[in-house]
Amino acid sequence: MNELDYVTTVLESGRLAGDGVFCARAESLLGELTGAHSALVTSSCTHALEMCAMLLDAPSGSEIIVPDFTFPSTANAFAMLGYRPVFADIDPATLNISPESARSCVSSRTVAIVVMHYGGVACDMEAFRSLCDDHDLILIEDNAHGLGGTWNDAPLGTFGNLATQSFHETKNISCGEGGALLINDDSYKDRAEILREKGTNRSLFRRGLADKYTWVDTGSSYVLSEVSAAILLAQLEDFLLIQANRRHAWSTYRNRLEQWGLQRGVRFQSVPEYVSSACHAFPLLFPSPHDRDRFIDHLDRHGITAVFHYQPLHASRMGRLTGANREDCSVSTSVAECLVRLPLYSGIQCDEVERVVEATIASETPIRRG
Ligand SMILES: Cc1ncc(COP(=O)(O)O)c(C=O)c1O
Repeated sequence: MNELDYVTTVLESGRLAGDGVFCARAESLLGELTGAHSALVTSSCTHALEMCAMLLDAPSGSEIIVPDFTFPSTANAFAMLGYRPVFADIDPATLNISPESARSCVSSRTVAIVVMHYGGVACDMEAFRSLCDDHDLILIEDNAHGLGGTWNDAPLGTFGNLATQSFHETKNISCGEGGALLINDDSYKDRAEILREKGTNRSLFRRGLADKYTWVDTGSSYVLSEVSAAILLAQLEDFLLIQANRRHAWSTYRNRLEQWGLQRGVRFQSVPEYVSSACHAFPLLFPSPHDRDRFIDHLDRHGITAVFHYQPLHASRMGRLTGANREDCSVSTSVAECLVRLPLYSGIQCDEVERVVEATIASETPIRRG
């Protein structure tokens, strides 16, 4: 827990802007943790996704396949640069983008697929890699939920040509607001550094590889400040500890609520046997929207806040304005209406998890009939 010490060091150094010692140390540790070829810390995951959109460098109107059930940034980062998001439905068991639905979305204009490992449970990476290879598409992982998760023992964030991380306060590892771009295809590295530095070659200049720095490309201001990087580095150093606490809470929910769920017709997110979840979220899927809403009210009366998300992107205002909806996305629609997330946050204590379990078991969710 070195956050305060590291932030003090940064403040005392007077060097608060980004791409300094703490950014470099955070990037190197992130590379070690994920196995990515290289990592660039950024001001958010949204910004790292925007960098992916710029790196694709495809003609306006090119299509990007995205899951219908995800945070808006997964699609918005591409839509704002003139790409057309095409919404694929999700798998009802894993809640991840369905490879079959994604395959149906491919057209001659498709240039990339963005997968998102919902709740930290890996998408079927073999299916997505072969889909991308079949159609010569770039694979991008929005790994905002997936840090620490694996698919066939390989870390999430290492399957895509590019992957993004979020260090927003709601994520497993946090520095308030922050993110990273993981680069597994080295051909993107030099340009990614330029895009992150407002379209300049300042990174080369800082390494002594250019005698001055200048405007060489488009780009934006995506560097993480050293103050945030100091917090991020301390969090990454404690990654195993932070993850162990989260995994314990997640496993307690799973073990203690399994029978209750079976009896009441409340489903859990499936975790395939070759997947180890990053335990980002613990969603419950109720038989109906009414049951879900009653459950949220019930927890609320016990002083427990449980939230739901996401609104299906295809039905959102921007989804309708910018996107294409070739699949009916009915699974995403019904999951959005019936899902609730049990409280799961960094540092959650055993007694809080126990309180949530007790309150859940005491809820009046109807017994499943037939
Ligand atoms: C799947 C997913 N992608 C992207 C983001 C955006 O992350 P950030 O807040 O770091 O921009 C989020 C945030 O919740 C997310 O859940």
